[in-house]
Amino acid sequence: MSRIVLGVSGGIAAYKACVLLRRLTEAGHEVQVVPTANALSFVGETTWAALSGRPVATSVLADAHEVNHVRLGREADLVLVAPATADLLARAASGRADDLLTNVLLTATCPVVMAPAMHTEMWLHAATRANVATLRSRGVVVLRPAEGRLTGADSGPGRLPEPEDIEASALAALADAAAASAMAAQDLSGRKVVISAGGTREHLDPVRFVGNSSSGRMGVALARAAVQRGAEVTLVAANLAIETPAGVDVVTVESTADLASAMDAAAADADLVVMAAAPADFTPVESSATKLKKSGDAGLTVAFTQTTDVLAGLAARRPSGQVVVGFAAETAADEAELVTLGTSKLARKGCQLLVLNNVSGGAVFGSPDNQVVLLGASGVIGHAAGSKTSVAHAILDAADTVRERNAE
Ligand code: CTP
Repeated sequence: MSRIVLGVSGGIAAYKACVLLRRLTEAGHEVQVVPTANALSFVGETTWAALSGRPVATSVLADAHEVNHVRLGREADLVLVAPATADLLARAASGRADDLLTNVLLTATCPVVMAPAMHTEMWLHAATRANVATLRSRGVVVLRPAEGRLTGADSGPGRLPEPEDIEASALAALADAAAASAMAAQDLSGRKVVISAGGTREHLDPVRFVGNSSSGRMGVALARAAVQRGAEVTLVAANLAIETPAGVDVVTVESTADLASAMDAAAADADLVVMAAAPADFTPVESSATKLKKSGDAGLTVAFTQTTDVLAGLAARRPSGQVVVGFAAETAADEAELVTLGTSKLARKGCQLLVLNNVSGGAVFGSPDNQVVLLGASGVIGHAAGSKTSVAHAILDAADTVRERNAE
């Protein structure tokens, strides 16, 4: 349980902050809402109070004996501003203290995360870009907005990311100071990252398929972490059970063969390639163009053939300087056995980094959390545990370590 100040500034996307607030309180966090005066024109004090279960702090002068303008910032574990308007970014960047929220921002010593939302012209304006750069240089995590439909009929970058997307990045910044500074520093800017996620489907006929229950959560978390660190990200998505993150180019695929060609095309000029998907290892030899019909009491026998190993192919064709990362879920008695199994899989696949899961205890697939061992060609590089977004940041760090070592 953490103490979170949720700052809300005056934009129409304030309504989405209600869902964000609900998610944070349901996850057990204590949330103090600090709306600006304009935010209250969009969503009223009663809504914030009811959803947070506590009075809303709106004024520097109210409850002066509690010195709220200093106490709230000092006591917070995380200050999250969503939506952050162009005006709020400008006031924060110039150090203004003209309302309670900007006072909180000046007194906070914890991680600060801002989720901007505004019209595309305002987001792309030189003044806003300079303000964002100033805030990031001071360690503030300014999230990349989503692209899509804005308030009117227009669309472009500037949309507030979905609440679960904001929550995941904000909680990763809260859990891990290294992830927060990597996002603030935009340490992957200029890099191209290609990630696969989800589980493939091999069709028996137009309506039936053989698939697996991979949700795509780990690949989506990696895409989110990479994009928030400034990378240009392509997500090759196979039948995801969840939404894709803001700011990512999504290529949808169905089968292992589709996934192999989409990955080959996207990976040609990538700096980092991550195979987080669960491709089917077998595909029916024949797929019927029409729906298979029952015939009397007869059963059905299907012959399968092996699919291509996408990861091994990508590793074999890897351009110099590129890092290729694979995943392996193994059942092992202990870490030593896990590393032994991983070492031979890493050599067999030819990748530079293998993210190893011990699945003997169950409960990794579909879960929001993960626990992994990061294995490079020369041995264990690190360990990571926590939310899939926190683990994703650790995987990106390990991939960068491998890249630096290979460059030496
Ligand atoms: N993988 C792939 N293409 C496949 C199967 C798996 O690229 N046809 C990738 C997965 O995305 C993952 C890695 O290979 O990154 C390891 O997957 P795993 O299923 O453990 O590999 P297998 O070669 O099937 O190993 P095993 O024989 O242990 O099942």
